[in-house]
Amino acid sequence: ALGCLLGLLFSFQTFIFTDGDDEALARHTGNVVNTNCSAAHSRQALSCKMAVEYDHFIESGRKWFCHVDDDNYVNLRALLRLLASYPHTQDVYIGKPSLDRPIQATERVSENKVRPVHFWFATGGAGFCISRGLALKMSPWASGGHFMSTAERIRLPDDCTIGYIVEALLGVPLIRSGLFHSHLENLQQVPASKLHEQVTLSYGMFENKRNAVHMKGPFSVEADPSRFRSIHCHLYPDTPWCPRTAIF
Ligand SMILES: *[C@@H]1O[C@H](CO)[C@@H](O)[C@H](O)[C@H]1NC(C)=O
Repeated sequence: ALGCLLGLLFSFQTFIFTDGDDEALARHTGNVVNTNCSAAHSRQALSCKMAVEYDHFIESGRKWFCHVDDDNYVNLRALLRLLASYPHTQDVYIGKPSLDRPIQATERVSENKVRPVHFWFATGGAGFCISRGLALKMSPWASGGHFMSTAERIRLPDDCTIGYIVEALLGVPLIRSGLFHSHLENLQQVPASKLHEQVTLSYGMFENKRNAVHMKGPFSVEADPSRFRSIHCHLYPDTPWCPRTAIF
């Protein structure tokens, strides 16, 4: 029942940002926002979407801004447990760094002057969260179209730009968490016994091989290649569409 209630609250607070109208999706949830951004995976198109997400979050008045991609599974209980340990009024930026060192970039400081800058950032493909307190401080560089010009200033994608604003401009360090997972890591290494603790999971390709969490479960690999449905039924067996009789 708790899972159900959380699911309800969660779907109510989940917004899906698209780059085109999707009537089938809109019928399932009222929270679809067409960003009107290009569908390309260019730096500009990605920053355009992140800018709309940011503005939407500020407008919403909510406590936490969590960005995830459409190839992520979000374990709501673990996410809420993680966020409950931090105050949303303070400066919190949490996620998984995609590199094992700070990224080196070049920041344009004026018309013809650049300088090196280095900072950590959370990889967008694994998802990350930002507290409201911090998001409000990001406003001069992130709100109302400024996000795209900030991204241009360092010529890096959307998730790096978030790290640049938070770490380099505001001096707030990224809190590293190993509980966020992208398709750029070997997901078979996430042990089934630790699944309940993980905040996000993903699936896709890694080093030219199919990459997904190794999970025996009610759904076959053909029926559930991402393993997300099997994982969900393992974590939340009371979900109405999960097979009742199966024992995992
Ligand atoms: C996208 O365009 C439509 C139609 O012009 C508009 O109603 C909507 O507000 C736009 N979305 C955003 C996020 O600006």
